Amino acid sequence: MSKVTIVGAGKYGSMTALRIAESDMVSEVVMTDIVEGLPQGLALDMNQSRYVEKFQTEIIGTNSYKDTKDSDVVVVTAGLPRKPGMSRMDLLSTNGKIIKDVTNNIMEYSNSPIIIVVTNPLDQMTTLVAETSELPKKNVIGQAGILDSSRFAYFISKKTGVPMKEIKALTLGSHGETMVPVPSQCLVNDKKLTELPAYFNTNPHKEVTLDDKVGIRTSKYKYFRAEIDKGKEINLYDLENDPQENNNIASENPEIVKSMEEILEKLTKNATIDEPEKLTKKQEKIVEEQLKEMGYI
Ligand SMILES: NC(=O)c1ccc[n+]([C@@H]2O[C@H](COP(=O)([O-])OP(=O)(O)OC[C@H]3O[C@@H](n4cnc5c(N)ncnc54)[C@H](O)[C@@H]3O)[C@@H](O)[C@H]2O)c1
Repeated sequence: MSKVTIVGAGKYGSMTALRIAESDMVSEVVMTDIVEGLPQGLALDMNQSRYVEKFQTEIIGTNSYKDTKDSDVVVVTAGLPRKPGMSRMDLLSTNGKIIKDVTNNIMEYSNSPIIIVVTNPLDQMTTLVAETSELPKKNVIGQAGILDSSRFAYFISKKTGVPMKEIKALTLGSHGETMVPVPSQCLVNDKKLTELPAYFNTNPHKEVTLDDKVGIRTSKYKYFRAEIDKGKEINLYDLENDPQENNNIASENPEIVKSMEEILEKLTKNATIDEPEKLTKKQEKIVEEQLKEMGYI
């Protein structure tokens, strides 16, 4: 591979251009934008950093699609990003027009490029590029899953204290509110995420009262007891054989209770309690509707 074009020299595009150039995998990175002078200025700065960072790839900044001629890969980042309070779908019509125009320009100068779409709303823009370019399906790729999975891995790493390189995370589906994290396919130090014990505390933010419980949940058992006294209100449920948690089997299984207590003690020491996230009015409404649908309220 020898030539990559980045369309849109904003935050995403310029960082991508530099990362690709620094990896020295291609001979040329072309960066184009509608703002005159912007890609040229950025390219000059990047090229001048080559002496320090020791890479050979030439970066070309331009406002003309002629310079993108015969690109092997084109990364499309042109368009508006979200402003606070906006959803990705709010960008649909503005970015749709930009992406159609960008795709026609790319196809005028490159025969059969691989196009990686970044602009949001991602799935809709990827479809639009595929339809406008008439390229084979395998040539048009939406960049989302790897970012979402990487974000998920970051949260898992923060919660478990395990370095990111020991984590495998997976999310599926659309790049937006319907994206699905898949804990059953996530590994932490080669162990399934779902098999790791999860710590819970019914009231972590206030002073401990007689009603408060602490406990853990593993793939096999749910264990909890009064927070104030570890000998009180002990509950143990066999989740595999009693998923509805009808039978408290604590009194017949002192050995299991002991091992659960040992895990709980370890987790209690390491537990970090996040401040609850403040929801916007719109988010509150969505949560309320979902709880109603599920029959909780
Ligand atoms: N898929 C993902 O994971 C992901 C992640 C981050 C951002 N995004 C999306 O990527 C897009 C870019 O984000 P950003 O943060 O770099 O925004 P940005 O505003 O920093 O950069 C966008 C650039 O596109 C340029 N542009 C606008 N219209 C153009 C056109 N017709 N031709 C060429 N260039 C044009 C602008 O001048 C600007 O420089 C947004 O739509 C954002 O939502 C996607």
